Amino acid sequence: MTRIAILGSTGSIGTQTLEVARWRGWKVVALAAGKNLELVVQQAKEFQPEIISVDPSILQATREALPHSKIVADANEVATSQCDVVIGAIPGLAGLEPTRAALAAGRHVALANKEAMVCGGKLIWQIARTNNARITPMDSEHSALYQCLVGEKITDVAELILTASGGPFRDTPEDLSTVTPAMALKHPNWVMGAKVTIDSSTLMNKGLEVLEAHYLYEFPLEQISVLIQPGSIIHSMVRFKDNQIKAQLGAPDMRLPIQYSILSALEPLTTKISGAERPDTPLEPLNLIGNLELRAVNQERFPCLGLAFAAGKLGGVAPVALNAADEIAVQAFLEHRLPYLGIAKLIEQILAETPKAELTWESIASTDAWARTRAKELLPQ
Ligand SMILES: NC(=O)c1ccc[n+]([C@@H]2O[C@H](COP(=O)([O-])OP(=O)(O)OC[C@H]3O[C@@H](n4cnc5c(N)ncnc54)[C@H](OP(=O)(O)O)[C@@H]3O)[C@@H](O)[C@H]2O)c1
Repeated sequence: MTRIAILGSTGSIGTQTLEVARWRGWKVVALAAGKNLELVVQQAKEFQPEIISVDPSILQATREALPHSKIVADANEVATSQCDVVIGAIPGLAGLEPTRAALAAGRHVALANKEAMVCGGKLIWQIARTNNARITPMDSEHSALYQCLVGEKITDVAELILTASGGPFRDTPEDLSTVTPAMALKHPNWVMGAKVTIDSSTLMNKGLEVLEAHYLYEFPLEQISVLIQPGSIIHSMVRFKDNQIKAQLGAPDMRLPIQYSILSALEPLTTKISGAERPDTPLEPLNLIGNLELRAVNQERFPCLGLAFAAGKLGGVAPVALNAADEIAVQAFLEHRLPYLGIAKLIEQILAETPKAELTWESIASTDAWARTRAKELLPQ
């Protein structure tokens, strides 16, 4: 029986992964949650994992609620548990260390946490390769690219074309300075955690995905582009050197890329991209009619996308600073401490001030800490 461990089990990806585990009858051997006591207890009672990690603030209460379970306060113990695939779905840079630990222990990782790839890039691949561990993407766009690349040579690829829904503010309101957190938290097509939903509205999510694709597929940034696909049906496309294009289409339902990512992680590790089994799945067939429109991105309206490209071009630790500044900016926006248009301005300022440095585990940590402190200093008082 397939054994999975989930990092971020109480979140949007985590709960949908559990739904896929119910479909497929997988054994859930380990769960890592944060502070959602009620939900992690409920999940533990249903799936009976061998180990659960939680935030230290709810450690005692979780132990009292689950007296016969092994409860720890260290997600790395979940990341390195005996399983076939670890699902990396702790958001932000906090997801990097358990991802690194899982790969270092030779675990295959189905990766939802884009920030790990954006910030850890080359270092993540070094660890995976040294330990014969597979990384399969869970983000719908990267899953789409993966599916288009099955059986192809990356050297035959001319362009990776990521699609974006355009978020809630694709066309309106004309004046984005009026946007409130409540407005930005309403995504037209996807139900996701708060951080990724706000990032979707600014297109920073797409920017992070561009960087994720750059590092994940070890593919030149200049040959990655973005198109708006309002229906969220075409999840991404690959243009080959002969100018033929492959696209992957699917319903905007994360359970599909989650399932594909885990199934492809289970394939023998002979090539980086190997495809996966396609079992019957209890979802309605897709409605293609009227849903396939494509448009160019309005770069002026969404400056965060350009900032992500700029950070990728700078290389080194610049993506780490971009990511940290975005986390602080989004949090401040959600707490009504920064206006919506202030998000891009804050990130731009941090990028301009970021000292150049080679990417190492130490420079990731120090740049992240510096960028967070500096971004907080720059917040309106
Ligand atoms: N949601 C999507 O559709 C989607 C799509 C593509 C990619 N992603 C990526 O997947 C990742 C997860 O997104 P999400 O939407 O599922 O986020 P989410 O709904 O906010 O859930 C986050 C999960 O991680 C846990 N967590 C947070 N900080 C933690 C920490 N420091 N240590 C241990 N656990 C921690 C949370 O625990 P508690 O809730 O218990 O505190 C929760 O289980 C992100 O990197 C996101 O960019 C998400």
